[in-house]
Amino acid sequence: MRIRVQPVTRLSGTIEVPGDKSVSHRAALLGAIANGRTEITGYLEGEDCLNTLRAVEKLGVLVTRKGPGHYLVDGVGLLGLREPEDVLDCGNSGTGARLLLGLLAGQPFWTFLTGDASLRRRPMKRVAEPLAAMGATFVGRQEGGRLPLGVRGARPLRACAYASPVASAQIKTALLLAGLWADGPVSVTEPARSRDHTERMLAGFGARLSVEGRTVPGDISSAAFLLVAGALVADSRVTVARVGANPTRAGLLEVLESMGARVERRGESAAAGEPVADLTTSSTMLHGTRIGGELIPRLIDEVPILAVAACAAAGLTRITDAAELRVKESDRIGAIAVELGRMGAQIVERPDGLDIEGGTRLRGATVGSGGDHRMAMALVVAGLMAEGETVVEDTACINTSYPGFVAAINALAGRMCAEEMP
Ligand code: S3P
Repeated sequence: MRIRVQPVTRLSGTIEVPGDKSVSHRAALLGAIANGRTEITGYLEGEDCLNTLRAVEKLGVLVTRKGPGHYLVDGVGLLGLREPEDVLDCGNSGTGARLLLGLLAGQPFWTFLTGDASLRRRPMKRVAEPLAAMGATFVGRQEGGRLPLGVRGARPLRACAYASPVASAQIKTALLLAGLWADGPVSVTEPARSRDHTERMLAGFGARLSVEGRTVPGDISSAAFLLVAGALVADSRVTVARVGANPTRAGLLEVLESMGARVERRGESAAAGEPVADLTTSSTMLHGTRIGGELIPRLIDEVPILAVAACAAAGLTRITDAAELRVKESDRIGAIAVELGRMGAQIVERPDGLDIEGGTRLRGATVGSGGDHRMAMALVVAGLMAEGETVVEDTACINTSYPGFVAAINALAGRMCAEEMP
């Protein structure tokens, strides 16, 4: 698949985005090991989260689809998961794989995990090592550091106090999940605060174990593409309704404001223990900014689209402390520099970030996502502001996190500015 993008002069309207990917994974996994039934609405039916549902089914959990994004998960309790007969395929999802490894570290049987070519390149030692120290056994490629990977859990696991070298919610969550089968407390400290969905949801499940609806909020990481487009395209006003606005995820909004954008928040409420709001951006002249330090984990998935904003903003934007981007679905630092570079962006790549000199209009070009969903969507938004036509290649990956993205862009433009082609 590829997407042909024409520049637009205006975006306007109100739209909802699909459910949050991080929250959906956690709802499926915690629902699987809770006692009794969990009802989930707003579940993200992107490939990543569907793979996690298939994985818990293979572990012996009954999952019933009642309608779009509406699932019943009949939890088997902490002692009820069963050895799967086949390999669990996590597809493109690092979150699915690492969270499952944490869960499986407490199961006294062997499970084998694999994923697509991108996921098989991504580091798993970051969870396998501390989980092995707790008592689980791993076998796999590169000394147990890459998928396909086998894990045999132990019960009980040893308690641990882990100081993570990276601010990663995936590491934190894997260890906290394993901690459910440990013989004492598990604590994780991290160099900066990463997203806290697991902590919130564990508290929710602990207080009321089951038979409760959990509505997944809209994914701010998907909304990010529409909100940045609303800030960049002249004469625009874009509202994304019912988006998760958890402060550990909302770094994007702070950065947009520091670049001079107008961001309005209305209708604040809560869903599944997460703050939710309607977010609106409207076109403004942006200026460059600095993005680094503790902000990075709070906008880690938004750097590709922020790089597009930086191309439009007057002056220098410097992104630092973001070396983690090199081990995401693709090497995002390299990919941003190369692909936006093809569109005429002034970008210098550094080991842990990027310097982007903005303010000149991008040129339409043929660019590639490298199979990375967030790169694909960021490049489509870049195409909306560029001069002439842009073709983004290798775009089927968008379905991992945001089915309906192209339709949303066309709805806001009021015409077919983005066209999917085989
Ligand atoms: C996620 C955590 C982040 C993020 C990923 C989802 C999660 O990864 O990039 O898309 O749901 O826990 P790290 O925690 O490894 O940075």
